[in-house]
Amino acid sequence: DASDTEKGTYPHFMLKEIDEQPIVMRKIIREYQNGDNQIKLDKDIRKAMQDTDRVYIIAAGTSYHAGLVGKEFMEKLANIPVEVHVASEFSYNMPLLSEKPLFVFISQSGETADSRSVLVKIKELGHPALTITNVPGSTLSREADYTLHLHAGPEIAVASTKAYTAQIAVLAILAVDTAQAKDLTLDFDPLQELALVANAMEVLTDQKEEVEQLTRDYLATTRNAFFIGRSADYHVSLEGALKLKEISYIQAEGFAGGELKHGTIALIEEGTPVVALATQKNVNYSIRGNVQEVVARGANALVISMKGLEQDGDAFVLPKVHELLTPLVSVVPLQLLAYYAALHRDCDVDKPRNLAKSVTVE
Ligand code: G6P
Repeated sequence: DASDTEKGTYPHFMLKEIDEQPIVMRKIIREYQNGDNQIKLDKDIRKAMQDTDRVYIIAAGTSYHAGLVGKEFMEKLANIPVEVHVASEFSYNMPLLSEKPLFVFISQSGETADSRSVLVKIKELGHPALTITNVPGSTLSREADYTLHLHAGPEIAVASTKAYTAQIAVLAILAVDTAQAKDLTLDFDPLQELALVANAMEVLTDQKEEVEQLTRDYLATTRNAFFIGRSADYHVSLEGALKLKEISYIQAEGFAGGELKHGTIALIEEGTPVVALATQKNVNYSIRGNVQEVVARGANALVISMKGLEQDGDAFVLPKVHELLTPLVSVVPLQLLAYYAALHRDCDVDKPRNLAKSVTVE
């Protein structure tokens, strides 16, 4: 669809793509649903997932961050051990493989050379591969045994947004389909929960002014920023930091809340912005403790919490979604923070310096 690749009334593709996320969620629901509101997924992929004793997720950049979330789905819902690897490192430090490995390549473009070189290597070893991509005709898709399509529509901005949330949604569907194939009982219907996520995303994309104001309050003049979270929030904090550094050039790092005290807290000074995510009930107490620790050292803490877990002073409260799917909503204000930070600094939002949309060299 040609209009997909035009900005329309949007000043930047990134903002358009952030706004498209609820639409993409609904599209994924339609594409992966049969007439009976059940998951519809390729039988061969189902079989490959059933047959494997360990999944190796291989990806780069934002797709790697989606893989970290996907590991949680596959382990918690489908009871399959999962390793997530940065593609460029995999070849040097190839882990000892299990007896029946399945390789899952996550790649928006399907063209990332680092991932392709792993695919070539594991194909030589005779292992099966599934590619999860936004571009079904891409190299990684053609060379793998199976493909799952993200249905996110063309993503033009270099900083990936809707592909990340699409990857997470498809990984949730894949994990639940595998659990069903294994006759595991779940009280989690991903299609229904993703519909609620789509609604929540719509609420969030209508809160641009609030997020823009937070950007002014917390990130206006800073040279650095930290993102912290525990459990699923840790993975999203990595992605939030990546978004911010990619397009605004603010030095940003994501950390596990518990790791702060092992080094990073030394960097906290008067006024250092610390974005803390609090969407997980079981770690809410601990992440709040981290917030107190950094505030006591002068940090400007911007707490993004989930409805039901919020406390006085939180800067932003997310609409409630299923606890497994919180990354899909918590990432939205982080994408917007990065967008406005870049905009206010007059950075080239869609084409940041030194970066390419798809990196086809190793
Ligand atoms: C490039 C892009 C990133 C992307 C990464 C992986 O570095 O700038 O936004 O996350 O490649 O790309 P892929 O297409 O494999 O998901």
